[in-house]
Amino acid sequence: MFTRHRQLLLFSVAIFLLSEYTPPPSSAAAHPREPAPITRFRSYLKINTAHPNPDYTTAVKYLTAIASTIPTLRIKIIYLTTLEKPLLLLTLAGSDPSLPAVLFNSHLDSVPVESSKWLHDPFGAHLSPEDGKIYARGAQDDKCIGMQYLEAIKELKGNLDFSPLRTVHVSYVPDEEIGGFDGMAKFVESEEFKELNIGFVMDEGQASPSDEFRVFYADRTPWHMVIKANGLPGHGSRMYENCAMENMMKSIEVITKFRDSQFDLVKAGLAANSEVISVNPVFLKAGTPSPTGFVMNMQPSEVEAGFDIRLPPTADPDLLMRRITEEWAPAWRNMTYEITKKGVLRDYLGRPLLTPTNDSNPWWSVFEQAIAKAGGKLTKPEILASTTDARFMRQRGIPTLGFSPMKNTPILLHDHNEFLKDSVYLDGIKVYKHIIKSLSSFNGTSSSY
Ligand SMILES: *[C@@H]1O[C@H](CO)[C@@H](O)[C@H](O)[C@H]1NC(C)=O
Ligand SMILES: *[C@@H]1O[C@H](CO)[C@@H](O)[C@H](O)[C@H]1NC(C)=O
Ligand SMILES: *[C@@H]1O[C@H](CO)[C@@H](O)[C@H](O)[C@H]1NC(C)=O
Ligand SMILES: [Zn+2]
Repeated sequence: MFTRHRQLLLFSVAIFLLSEYTPPPSSAAAHPREPAPITRFRSYLKINTAHPNPDYTTAVKYLTAIASTIPTLRIKIIYLTTLEKPLLLLTLAGSDPSLPAVLFNSHLDSVPVESSKWLHDPFGAHLSPEDGKIYARGAQDDKCIGMQYLEAIKELKGNLDFSPLRTVHVSYVPDEEIGGFDGMAKFVESEEFKELNIGFVMDEGQASPSDEFRVFYADRTPWHMVIKANGLPGHGSRMYENCAMENMMKSIEVITKFRDSQFDLVKAGLAANSEVISVNPVFLKAGTPSPTGFVMNMQPSEVEAGFDIRLPPTADPDLLMRRITEEWAPAWRNMTYEITKKGVLRDYLGRPLLTPTNDSNPWWSVFEQAIAKAGGKLTKPEILASTTDARFMRQRGIPTLGFSPMKNTPILLHDHNEFLKDSVYLDGIKVYKHIIKSLSSFNGTSSSY
């Protein structure tokens, strides 16, 4: 019943969405010589999909309008939760549908803005005439790649030579910036997704300040830990064993030693920040409140501390749990702990959540060669310090690379005055043309990973 209802809904709303899209009025007329892809990119940026009220409907309508100008591109709108959270799926059928398909993913949403801190309206997509910088929330994270996929396919389809061997899917998902639970997390669990038979995924990466592109083969996984010490309360003047504060300070000492051991590796240049386990204290809660602050002659009976922990994919979750229960919050010291968030570290086969970037993963070589063909260079593959939707695909064992073709660009995701230069954006379309062509015509076997 539920499925049938959803399909009906899907059908009628798709008809509605396919009706003509009128772009939002632009504050300034487009420059007479502004390339059409830049105008289309700016129109997408003007649609406010920032949290807490992302306008997904308008964004999907806009993308659908462009997609419908590309011959043979199939358009499907999927509702995983409510009508307010559509997922757009575009499909270019390959000549051999039995081969695993390639998916290009981006998210529709962006983080909020503090408008007063911006030089230009964050939803105005101001194009600075002197340097070509396009200012907008989402310019780097990640509306650029969403539109570049579409422009690359549009240009490839304009050339009659292009007929992919493998099917190419492009997805636009909601809610990545708030954890992806109503977006990619639900999508990968759906029947629709299973039917796509995805063999390889390209998802978002980050800007590179150098002349080389960056590529990410894993995300770090977040854990949130709250530890609590209990002890006898006592007069502030008294020295006695095992008060709550003392027990907590012992734990903090041990945790600090561990933190130093990890940080030393980074400081010595032996590991990147994202390759070690970070443990950072984020709150301390203790004391007996008084009208003017805290009671000063009383030792409290309870102390609490919170930590943000990030684990690289190679970290051993069982070992960390042992550290927590035996050293960081041991019961014999009258301490308790709670892991309030526990990100997954292994895929469904028990393998670390990472995509190999060597010969064991044939997709890697195809991607690397495509970058070379596009005249680009890659830096050493990295682990992303934060998390993206890529983790949901990696959990299903699907190799996934994070990549956004932005070189010579400062890293401004989630920052004020996020911008992307027009020339960098246009160059990215060329890069994706090579990537889409190479990945979709890859004729080897990909099952070894
Ligand atoms: C733990 O609590 C018990 C009961 O209050 C107390 O006897 C013991 O000394 C405490 N131990 C530590 C290490 O705090
Ligand atoms: C390729 O990389 C994976 C993951 O880092 C590693 O486990 C594997 O041993 C590597 N294989 C080769 C052939 O280098
Ligand atoms: C696979 O593609 C390569 C490179 O495009 C080509 O040289 C080769 O003949 C193809 N092999 C098959 C079995 O189609
Ligand atoms: Zn993003």
